[in-house]
Amino acid sequence: MFVPYLLTTLSSQLTSTVKHFVHHEKRPKGSSKGQPPKEGERKNLIGGNWKCNGTLASAKELIETLNKGGAIPATAEVVVAVPFIHIPLVLEKLRDDIEVAAQNCGVNEKQGAYTGEICASQLVDMGVTWVVIGHSERREGFGMAGEDNELVAKKVKVAVDAGLKVMFCIGEKKEEREAGVTLDVCSAQLAPAAKLLSKEDWSKVSIAYEPVWAIGTGLTATPEMAQETHASIRKWISENVSEDVAKAVRIQYGGSMKGSNAKELLDQPDIDGGLIGGASLTADFVTCWSSVACAES
Ligand code: PGA
Repeated sequence: MFVPYLLTTLSSQLTSTVKHFVHHEKRPKGSSKGQPPKEGERKNLIGGNWKCNGTLASAKELIETLNKGGAIPATAEVVVAVPFIHIPLVLEKLRDDIEVAAQNCGVNEKQGAYTGEICASQLVDMGVTWVVIGHSERREGFGMAGEDNELVAKKVKVAVDAGLKVMFCIGEKKEEREAGVTLDVCSAQLAPAAKLLSKEDWSKVSIAYEPVWAIGTGLTATPEMAQETHASIRKWISENVSEDVAKAVRIQYGGSMKGSNAKELLDQPDIDGGLIGGASLTADFVTCWSSVACAES
């Protein structure tokens, strides 16, 4: 008598939990302030990259902090890229005006015998809307084979085809900047993707320019230095994809962006947001999104 009862209770609890995650009906409402961007202006994309950080308890705390973070400027879109295992929690508890990203997805287009991978369509099925592809840490490989430019480009295409929006990371290493080949490196990273993506695909992609020497080091590119590189990336897109795509595509800056330097970076004409690692793990992320310029309504 007891065992079947327990099983029924457990299974109905499980069903309601799964339903809850999949439909994420009860996410708290967010709030917005100011005017949206004018026709033809790019909306800033403020991405948080939690990397491989956090426990269930600390993720809950961080969600609470973001939920209490107040209004998001209508000129900004906010997304957090969280570890796969925390996706259901975030989709249940995070305010509904912050979108949820994964930090990677498989290059496999379909589900199947790909042990350890999560594919783009599975992310879409969960309610995830964004994915970070080609982060320099994954390109480097941290002890495993890293991802090369071709693989990264294929993943971008697979993710877009599955219905995800992509933060597509590019950026040079310190010795490459010193050798004066920053744009060569960035264009070699962009070129294979430019071959695969249609104009329509590009509307789902944001380029995250992250100089590797600035990631997690506390060294930030100066706003002028970042602006110069962003402008040259946009010029490359204009010459190698199309002028329309170059005008519309967002280019986020990443590499030690934080509350204290976000405004001067985001004020640059070709910087359309940030991809923020360390500072996205604290209330400083709220300062970052609050730094996006916005006219009061
Ligand atoms: P950081 O990381 O802000 O800690 O430098 C940025 C990133 O890796 O996306």
